[in-house]
Amino acid sequence: MDILELMEQRHSVRRYLDKPIPTDKIEPLVAEMRECNAESGLRIVLYTNDPSALGGFKGKISNFRNAVNYFAMLGPDETLLDEKCGWYGERLVLKAQELGLNTCWIAGSYGGSCRRLAEEGERLSCIISVGFGETQGVPHRNKQEESRFVVEGDEPEWFARGRRAVMLAPTAINQQKFRFTLRGGEVFAEETGGFYSNIDLGIVKYHFFAATGVDCRRWDE
Ligand SMILES: Cc1cc2nc3c(=O)[nH]c(=O)nc-3n(C[C@H](O)[C@H](O)[C@H](O)COP(=O)(O)O)c2cc1C
Repeated sequence: MDILELMEQRHSVRRYLDKPIPTDKIEPLVAEMRECNAESGLRIVLYTNDPSALGGFKGKISNFRNAVNYFAMLGPDETLLDEKCGWYGERLVLKAQELGLNTCWIAGSYGGSCRRLAEEGERLSCIISVGFGETQGVPHRNKQEESRFVVEGDEPEWFARGRRAVMLAPTAINQQKFRFTLRGGEVFAEETGGFYSNIDLGIVKYHFFAATGVDCRRWDE
């Protein structure tokens, strides 16, 4: 399946069926998570059947229901942690979608128990719930697209594809606070303020990369 189709199918889902994730889906998900950890130095952990983060069946916290499986996005407490979690977390979100599972990023509304997950020198950036959704969710409303992309000269087809992918990405409170610039054949991406926008930046950079092969991370500079 074209990755754009997968991105089109993905929406945040907060209510899940009371149905465990079977081994044939857990295994590839964990394999992907291990690859992400090996590549990034993050310590992403998948917790299953743990109602403490999101209130389990009752969904006391926010409007989550049966949200008992989640990735804890943990890593060394450094400046790029949130952006890295955005990039690798979205890779896991799209893997989950490919496996027929649903997800939701959660940076604000998880329970206090999660704060104990970080080991010394680490920070918990956010969590991502995963499971079989009651529904597939609904597409988000896009903000003014033109102001989020600056293109010098004519827009190449690959950039237009990247733009489509980016507009399908999840962002905190759907704020879409980012800007992509194409200048001198190079793509620059930045966040433009807002809550958790460094996590968002990693997510949108990953969508651009997954759709175009163009990697605009500048983590080594
Ligand atoms: C970094 C980040 C943090 C988020 N935090 C929460 C949260 O705490 N609670 C929640 O219900 N949704 C949260 N969301 C989900 C967003 O509200 C959702 O992605 C956005 O409205 C776009 O909708 P979509 O994911 O269906 O495309 C978060 C999303 C991101 C990317």
